[in-house]
Amino acid sequence: MEDEHRLQINSEHDILTARQRGRELAADVGFSGSDLTIVATAISEIARNIVEYAGRGEIVFTLVRDGRSRGIVVVARDEGPGIPDVALAMQDGYSTGKSLGLGLPGARRLMDEFDVQSEAGRGTTVTMKKWIQSRSARVS
Ligand SMILES: Nc1ncnc2c1ncn2[C@@H]1O[C@H](COP(=O)(O)OP(=O)(O)OP(=O)(O)O)[C@@H](O)[C@H]1O
Ligand SMILES: [Mg+2]
Repeated sequence: MEDEHRLQINSEHDILTARQRGRELAADVGFSGSDLTIVATAISEIARNIVEYAGRGEIVFTLVRDGRSRGIVVVARDEGPGIPDVALAMQDGYSTGKSLGLGLPGARRLMDEFDVQSEAGRGTTVTMKKWIQSRSARVS
């Protein structure tokens, strides 16, 4: 069963809304404790990039409850300037702004799956997923 929620990102304030909404939805699907902060932080970085570099875009949250797999899929899309060299942008410390350049690589480390599709002049789509660790998966 899938459960989809769409949020427009148009302003600085929407970054906070995305963070809060993402956290609530992650809790709804079953995340708890520090995982909620982890998911919320990754969403916040990706939403911030939309506002800073593209001006506007959208985030679609999908809650996945598929048998043993439960988790959240976050797709952030914009039609902004795009990223000419994604591999470079994924490196720690690379920024075209005067910032730390830790948003994308940081979000990648926080989530289980992370993908950036981007083309200069056409926009950017970041897809990230996090799964709830099942009891059996934790057995070493
Ligand atoms: N949605 C986007 N559209 C266009 N360029 C982007 C987008 N997201 C990221 N970038 C590019 O990738 C670079 C790296 O992004 P990242 O979030 O890692 O760092 P930053 O935003 O520069 O700094 P920080 O996130 O640490 O404040 C950005 O400087 C920008 O050039
Ligand atoms: Mg950033």
